[in-house]
Amino acid sequence: MLKGAHLAVEKVSHTYRRGRQQALVDIDLEVKPGEALALVGRSGCGKSTLLHIMSGLLAPSAGKVWIDGAKVEEPSPRWVVMFQQPSLYPWMTVAQNVALGLRFTGRSREIASRVPEMLKLVELSDYADRNVQDLSGGQQQRVALARSLAPSPEILFLDEPFSALDAFTRGSLQRDVRRIARELGITLILVTHDLPEAVTMADRAVVLSANPGRIREIVPIELENRDDLRTAEYAKARGRLAAAYEHAAGLGLAPGAEPASAKRAATGGGEDGQGRNAALPAAR
Ligand SMILES: Nc1ncnc2c1ncn2[C@@H]1O[C@H](COP(=O)(O)OP(=O)(O)OP(=O)(O)O)[C@@H](O)[C@H]1O
Ligand SMILES: [Mg+2]
Repeated sequence: MLKGAHLAVEKVSHTYRRGRQQALVDIDLEVKPGEALALVGRSGCGKSTLLHIMSGLLAPSAGKVWIDGAKVEEPSPRWVVMFQQPSLYPWMTVAQNVALGLRFTGRSREIASRVPEMLKLVELSDYADRNVQDLSGGQQQRVALARSLAPSPEILFLDEPFSALDAFTRGSLQRDVRRIARELGITLILVTHDLPEAVTMADRAVVLSANPGRIREIVPIELENRDDLRTAEYAKARGRLAAAYEHAAGLGLAPGAEPASAKRAATGGGEDGQGRNAALPAAR
């Protein structure tokens, strides 16, 4: 049963008051209930701006965002945003931190049942009474995840939530968040510039280019198995996304030097940036 919300971005453009350029131009996008979508692109291409607009934290200069047919004008307990830093309250226990979302939304009566359930989901049941300061970075991010999930959001927005963690912890959290979101039917929208993260977590990746931020390509990521990063299908999906990313970033390899997977992924949409930028090195 899908509980996640449908999200539509309609002709969204944004210029910051002190910005020199438009941060986003003409963004049109639709996200299905329960889908996991990644927003990828180089630093400054507008990923966080788009996430903030989608989640009602920022009003766009033009255009609209709809969640289940209702115009988004402010944040709502129906969706939550997780950032790079878990921003927990250090003087509270793990369980008290997890309870905050419920407390703030007037659902304190559910704390006794919901908090242990969420701690179990993120595998921190044994840590309920510990002080959050005594936890590792990865464990703290799990607490933040449990706190985000406790009020049963329909959409979980993530802005590079694992980038401060070591590769192993990051990998296990990526798989856990995808698994949990699918189990609960939550729509997942993830900002990252880590392409393997997008491949592991998302059903589709929206590739943005910068100055001004535009959608260049939407890459479907269809994988039978997301637990093993060494499969041929994983390498193929990653190659395809890397080619789209490099193309959007103006860092395409010389056409003859492209990996086979990248060639297959070429949009064929009439954009001619690759040859022009053939002398630039590839960015990973
Ligand atoms: N508050 C602000 N005022 C003015 N300009 C801003 C503001 N926030 C972001 N920008 C500009 O808007 C553009 C998009 O920024 P944004 O933070 O959305 O990029 P990003 O893709 O999330 O980058 P990163 O990967 O580095 O986090 C950049 O050129 C940035 O300098
Ligand atoms: Mg950002």
